[in-house]
Amino acid sequence: MTLDTDLTGRVVVVTGASRGIGRGLARHLAGRGARLVVTGRKQHRLDSLAQELDGLGADFLPLSFDVADREACRAMADATVARFGRIDGLVANAQTFRSVTPLAEVGEADMDLLFDTGPKGTLWLMQAVYPHMKAQGRGRIVTFGSNAGLTGGAGYGPYSSSKEAIRGLTRVAAREWGADGITVNCVCPVSAGHRAPPDDDPQRKALWERTYANQPIPRDGDAETDIAPVVAFLLSDASQYMTGQTVMADGGAVMLH
Ligand SMILES: NC(=O)c1ccc[n+]([C@@H]2O[C@H](COP(=O)([O-])OP(=O)(O)OC[C@H]3O[C@@H](n4cnc5c(N)ncnc54)[C@H](OP(=O)(O)O)[C@@H]3O)[C@@H](O)[C@H]2O)c1
Repeated sequence: MTLDTDLTGRVVVVTGASRGIGRGLARHLAGRGARLVVTGRKQHRLDSLAQELDGLGADFLPLSFDVADREACRAMADATVARFGRIDGLVANAQTFRSVTPLAEVGEADMDLLFDTGPKGTLWLMQAVYPHMKAQGRGRIVTFGSNAGLTGGAGYGPYSSSKEAIRGLTRVAAREWGADGITVNCVCPVSAGHRAPPDDDPQRKALWERTYANQPIPRDGDAETDIAPVVAFLLSDASQYMTGQTVMADGGAVMLH
């Protein structure tokens, strides 16, 4: 028996697919033959992704909604089943990011934003797909953490704690839903090229380059070729005996701490 990494025909929801890592994930999964539901909030970004996916010959459904909205997450699952008849995978990648704030100054709005769109959004998405995956007797859920959560990045209080809450939910879901044939794992990526400082800011650029130079794999990750293949493995049959785990797709960055 061969363990299959093939995703042909699998129906996979990728939230936050309209830019950054999610966009690379969508492109890679489309190339592997998955049928996709791609989401984000800003319609113009989804339109531009749709053009790209059309060019790749992908079968996909773009949906615009906020992952903090529980009803909208349910509606997404209904729309997915209405269009494709099933849901094989959920990649809960979307989260709203807010810039760095010293812990002593963190306010309620900072915590609410990161927790509403992070662990709460991830939970609403997981709850929305769960009945469908359970009925199928198979499902793959991939959540998104961060090495900032594991290491406790200074200035990243709301973000780091929200990411660790997502890892906590990942483990609980893995335990509760394993007998239903559903695996739940978390990926911590490093792929920030789309956030790179501009060439005319040499100070920030030098800091940026130093960060990567110190990593065991001394470069930024590419969403499509470095992060997406790890996610694809977790969506495939080849990872069927793996659940509740955190996978660092970070060039070894976590070992710097
Ligand atoms: N980049 C890294 O190196 C890195 C490192 C560690 C962890 N991560 C994690 O990896 C994931 C992707 O990171 P990224 O850098 O690609 O993020 P990003 O560039 O900020 O993109 C986020 C994506 O999610 C969508 N989004 C944001 N808030 C949303 C919301 N409330 N509801 C629905 N969609 C929303 C955005 O589109 P709209 O704005 O149009 O909604 C966009 O498509 C995140 O969970 C992030 O925390 C990233």
